[in-house]
Formats: sequence, structure tokens, C-alpha cells
Amino acid sequence: MPKLNENYLNLKQNYLFSEVGHRVTAYSQANPDKKIIRLGIGDVTRPIGENVIHALHEGVDAQASSETFKGYGPEQGYDFLRNAIVDYYAENGVDIEADEVFVSDGAKSDTGNITDLFAQDNVILIPDPVYPVYVDTNVMNGRNITYINANAENNFLPMPDQNVHADIIYICSPNNPTGAAYNHAQLQEWVDYALANNAIILYDSAYECFITDKSLPRSIFAIDGARKCAIEFCSLSKTAGFTGTRCGYTIVPKDLKFASESGSEMSLNAMWNRRQTTKFNGVSYIVQKGAAAVFSEEGMRQCKENIAYYQENARIIAACLDKKGIRYFGGVNSPYIWFECPKGMESWEFFDYLLEQIQVVGTPGAGFGNNGKYFFRLTAFGSRENTIEAMERFDRLF
Ligand code: MLT
Repeated sequence: MPKLNENYLNLKQNYLFSEVGHRVTAYSQANPDKKIIRLGIGDVTRPIGENVIHALHEGVDAQASSETFKGYGPEQGYDFLRNAIVDYYAENGVDIEADEVFVSDGAKSDTGNITDLFAQDNVILIPDPVYPVYVDTNVMNGRNITYINANAENNFLPMPDQNVHADIIYICSPNNPTGAAYNHAQLQEWVDYALANNAIILYDSAYECFITDKSLPRSIFAIDGARKCAIEFCSLSKTAGFTGTRCGYTIVPKDLKFASESGSEMSLNAMWNRRQTTKFNGVSYIVQKGAAAVFSEEGMRQCKENIAYYQENARIIAACLDKKGIRYFGGVNSPYIWFECPKGMESWEFFDYLLEQIQVVGTPGAGFGNNGKYFFRLTAFGSRENTIEAMERFDRLF
């Protein structure tokens, strides 16, 4: 009989968004006549920009002729895309090199897969609340987690405790689910802490394109010293509407080197390259053609139009919460609005209440950690029409 990975017994029965999906399906089957508005999972609704669509078509056409046909590609991504990503960073004043960029099918996979590179007995620091993938993937590997509290008192931007040692630190900024975004000085404090502890920061910047405040960093590599202590994960899901198309990238600097137990030097860039070339055959050529077009001038202009559309949705949601006198975080520099559940309700109770009373789906804060127990997340990724209707229904509630 095979011995199974019993760490799975320590997970909640369902992944957060699967649980939300099950509850919504059950409600909709019992109430087929009700119009449900989904502002739960952060899934985009705007179609992909024309420029990118054109490039995707070109990618398909290339597969139709023996002159241009592509079989296996480089596991790390085609140079044309890696170079486009390097240029995108350079435009934001950040220097990275093409062989530090690893193209993947998205930040979710990479933030989970990166755990392959680390031994079991690390002190792992994860904010609570946060994107559940960080916690679940470490639990699957049987690792212990030390939580750092993110709460209303620290504006959901926890800072390092100099009395606590960490080896691996997860940071998501702009944050999923709270929408809070670190400034330069705060990130510098985290980088200095990581350097002092000989630790590594796993930095998820999947929502960087929502940063409107030009003073805020869009990459951890805008911070002095970060190349020696950070890996960055990014995604085209929200930047370019690729939630279904799938493409992301991870930056692993070549400066990231740590000593093994026996004292030999280990490079995380080389390890990730070894891991990816062994376990991953790369993102399809077609998708990478589309992804490269995201970084063209016209492609990015079209992406920004969609981002502005979602930002307006966020403003509509925030305006409704303002009117109701409900305290919230995010909504600016972020597509997520994180608010206190009214009337002291717990988040799953509020989830059921919203679904039953007004057929609006959000995400219960408890799904992101204990500190989310009395909070709720709405996404700005719905259609304009549905966002307005959801807020009209919400406004009539109490
Ligand atoms: C979310 O709703 O938190 C995100 O869409 C999940 C993801 O990006 O995987």
C-alpha cells in the first residue's frame, strides 16, 4: 500500500475559492430564478485587448506552417518575451537580466512550486490574512508556519519584528486580499530585516499594475539590497486579462546565493532553472506571443484601458461603503476592497447573508486567515453593469 502525504489531512477540506464555488452552486440550484452577481474570486471579465489577440492569432498561424512551426520551446521562456519583461522593468527604473526571468503559467503555480527549493526546517513567516496558496502549499509539505498579524491597527501592513528570526518571508503587495500596498521605506525595512537574518523574501507583485500612486514601488527590486534577498512573482492575469490564457513570470536574481550545510555555495537562480527544466516544459509559444504583445506600447495602452475600467468599479464599490459608513481598506492601488462586516457579523455568516438577501457573492475574510474573521472582500473585476447593480442592492440592505 502506498504511504500517502498525510500533510493533506491538515488542510481545510476545500481550497477557499472551491468552497465559495460549491456554496454558490448549491444556492443557484435551489434558486434558479435568482440573478447572482459574482464579486468573489478575482477573475477578470473584460476581453483581452485587440493587439494581444492579434499576436495570439499570429502565434496560432505560425504553428500551421513548417517554416514557422514551434515544438518544445525553452523551459524558461522565449527570449523575445524575457527581453520584453526586462524592458518593462527598465521602464519602471528596475534593472534585471533576461536570464533572471522565468516565464510560467502564472504566479499561483510558481508561488506554490517555489517551496521545492527550501528544506523542511525553515522558519516561514506568512502574514495573516493573505492569499491562501502560500499557507496551503507549505502545509502540503508539512512545514510549520509563523504568522504575522495584519490588522486594522497596522493598516494591514505588518512590519518585521526584530526579535523574531525568519528564514523565508512571504509578502504580497498590493495585498491580496486587503488591497494594502507597502511604500519604499516599509519595504526597505523588510529587505534590511531579510538581509540581517540571511532570509529570503518571496514577493508576490501580481497586482502591481493597479498601483496608481507613483511614489509606491511596483517591484521589490526597486529597493536597495533586494537582489540579494528576494524572488518576485508576477502575472499577466490581472495586467492583461490572462486568467484563462495563463502566463506569468518569476524573477530570480543571480545574486541570490546561500551556503549549503557543508559550506558550498548554492544559487537559487540555478536551482530554479534546474527545477523548471526538470518539471516544466514551458508556456506555449502561442501564449508567449500574446504575452510579448502586452509589453508593446499599444498592447500596454489597451491593458491600461481595462485596468482603468476596473479601477472605476473599485471607486463605485468604495463610494457605496463610504455612504453606508462601513470601514474599508484597499480599492485604491488595488482591485480589492476589504471591509468590516456590518453588525459584527462573522465573514462566512455575512457571505451567506449577502447571497441569500441580495444574491451578491464576495469572499469571506476568514478564508484568508484568522484576522479576516470579521472582514469581507469584494473584487472590482466584475462588469460595470453588475458592479453598479450589486452596490444598488447592497445600499438597500441596512
Ligand atoms: C483571488 O481571487 O484571490 C485570485 O483571483 C486568486 C488567484 O489569482 O489565484
